[in-house]
Amino acid sequence: MAVDLLLGLQWGDEGKGKIVDVLTKNYDIIARFQGGPNAGHTLEFDGIKHVLHTIPSGIFHENAVNLVGNGVVIDPVIFKKELDNLSKFEGDFTKKLLISRKAHLILPTHRLLDAASEASKGKAKIGSTLKGIGPTYMDKTGRNGIRVGDLEMKNWSEKYRALANKHEAMIDFYDVDMQYDLAELEADFFEAVEVLKSLQFIDSEEYLHQAQRSNKTILAEGAQGSLLDIDFGTYPFVTSSNTTAAGACTGLGVAPGKIKEVFGIFKAYTTRVGSGPFPTELFDSYGETMGRVGNEFGATTGRPRRCGWLDLVALKYAVQVNGVTQLMMMKGDVLSGFDKLKVCTAYKYKGEIIEHLPYNIEAENVTPIYTEMKGWKEDLTKMTDVSQLPEALNNYIGYLEKELEVPIKIVSVGPDRTQTIHR
Ligand code: GDP
Ligand code: IMO
Ligand code: MG
Repeated sequence: MAVDLLLGLQWGDEGKGKIVDVLTKNYDIIARFQGGPNAGHTLEFDGIKHVLHTIPSGIFHENAVNLVGNGVVIDPVIFKKELDNLSKFEGDFTKKLLISRKAHLILPTHRLLDAASEASKGKAKIGSTLKGIGPTYMDKTGRNGIRVGDLEMKNWSEKYRALANKHEAMIDFYDVDMQYDLAELEADFFEAVEVLKSLQFIDSEEYLHQAQRSNKTILAEGAQGSLLDIDFGTYPFVTSSNTTAAGACTGLGVAPGKIKEVFGIFKAYTTRVGSGPFPTELFDSYGETMGRVGNEFGATTGRPRRCGWLDLVALKYAVQVNGVTQLMMMKGDVLSGFDKLKVCTAYKYKGEIIEHLPYNIEAENVTPIYTEMKGWKEDLTKMTDVSQLPEALNNYIGYLEKELEVPIKIVSVGPDRTQTIHR
């Protein structure tokens, strides 16, 4: 049986959590494949808003098992908080939550190192979520990391101490002004590790292999977005994992040939949180309206998200790198009332007009070239069927489909599970 994949095509926060929740009824297993609690995935139903960071977005459905894959990095402290939040709701969530033994652990000192590294960069900082993501993936590729499976070994606390001591020396090396009480952070950490240990640890690649053999349906859930990919994103202003389709193979142990549908999610405009280039960023009332109406504040850090017009050059690139087979357009409702819409179709790059994403998209090299389109006035948020969509929105969708050469199968018209139109 094939595996489907769902991922963000921009700089994150496209609405992945919402759509995974909507699609979960069709799947037996939802599996997160990369990232960590830098992610904030929002789901809304029955008037309640849930934000998940590590736990996959299928958790509220009875039918599905939710798996945290080997490519994910887990902070036990944040994970425990997520479980505590879930315990307010009906159901035994821990029963259908499985953790890969090969997932790496974020230690308190990884978080401190993230903060020290950012402080040392000054103005050039990445704008990281300060969740310890970069240092944890560095220890993974540096072959120093501690994995979930290590928690089942007797000597894991010695391994922990050796790594934490090394981290403390590294923090000193940064020579930045940082106050912290490691003993206090460790007390929280070790308490949370005990909670994590109460969950089922599995050899997840074997589990997924057997699931495929018995015809189970699997949806792989991505975090962040393609432009934050460590290889293909706007480096160095990226995260530390492969957020693109290939990340699902390494992050779950799924063979490339087993992947069937690749669902690519994008907003009808663009947002970015943190530092880094953003060619279509707006500093005028259009951008301000997107941020206000779209409630564009980071689900993990609460920081305001930068807003701008849709960038087709970047979107085409993401569709290409991921091999997207179906598109999902989110937050069209936010643009209701805009007298005009702009879509960036090319860049003026060092004096030339180009239609592909170049090596460097810093503002001094790139000026976006726009096509202007008519906006729509209608409130979309109560619409439930394609036949109700205004003509100007249909024109916008039709134009994007033609340019991207991939059908837009879902149009999302609000944050709630029910505000989802299938085409
Ligand atoms: P994710 O990280 O990709 O899961 O996205 P986030 O949850 O960080 O950010 C998406 C935000 O937009 C959340 O607050 C969602 O509730 C909200 N949202 C999702 N789809 C829609 C939509 O179609 N319209 C509106 N207005 N809000 C949406
Ligand atoms: P979801 O899954 C948006 C951004 C940070 C920063 C850069 C590096 O909710 O879409 P990191 O903490 O990973 O070292 O930060 O990446 N970033 C995100 N932006 N959505 C996310 O996740 C993000 N995860 C990281 O703001 O610019
Ligand atoms: Mg998010």
